[in-house]
Amino acid sequence: MRFALTGTAILAYISLATSHVIKRDISNVLRGLSTLNANIGTFGASVYRYDGTLPAAIEIFHQESSLEKDLEGVAADTNSTAEWTAQESNSVTESLVGLEPIMRTSIAALVMKRDLFIGAGVGSAVRLNLVNMRSRTIALSVALQNKAVGADKETIRQGTGDVDDAYDSAIDSYESRL
Ligand SMILES: *[C@@H]1O[C@H](CO)[C@@H](O)[C@H](O)[C@H]1NC(C)=O
Repeated sequence: MRFALTGTAILAYISLATSHVIKRDISNVLRGLSTLNANIGTFGASVYRYDGTLPAAIEIFHQESSLEKDLEGVAADTNSTAEWTAQESNSVTESLVGLEPIMRTSIAALVMKRDLFIGAGVGSAVRLNLVNMRSRTIALSVALQNKAVGADKETIRQGTGDVDDAYDSAIDSYESRL
């Protein structure tokens, strides 16, 4: 009995200590969103400059795959944060709202360069990248909505809904030509 009680107390202590160590600071999420913002901007600029060659397409695919990792990293950081305060929720939502137009611009660039990518023989690869980015973006949005407070949940849902629509029509645009 005495041992059982002590065991329970130790377990409770361990789980408290662990949750304290594991819960990450919201600054990781904000930093991640800011990195995403910069990297998506760079990616979009590369796509706009795309000249139809294979090496340039491969460089763009490298950037894209690192964006997928960024998106997943921010989702993982979001999952591991403790409950957000209203203030924290606001900061994250603001940062995300700033990210959405940049995402839509990059998606628009991929659509604009569609015939060049298809001409280089990498149309299916671009289509697949769009599908993957779309699912990573949705996963991040869901993770953020789970932590956001009050009206921020809906702001995030709507904003990423618009990005999701842009992905959908970009994917359709490639499918119509492949
Ligand atoms: C975040 O949590 C959600 C819900 O529990 C889970 O489905 C998702 O895979 C997690 N994402 C990451 C990147 O860990």
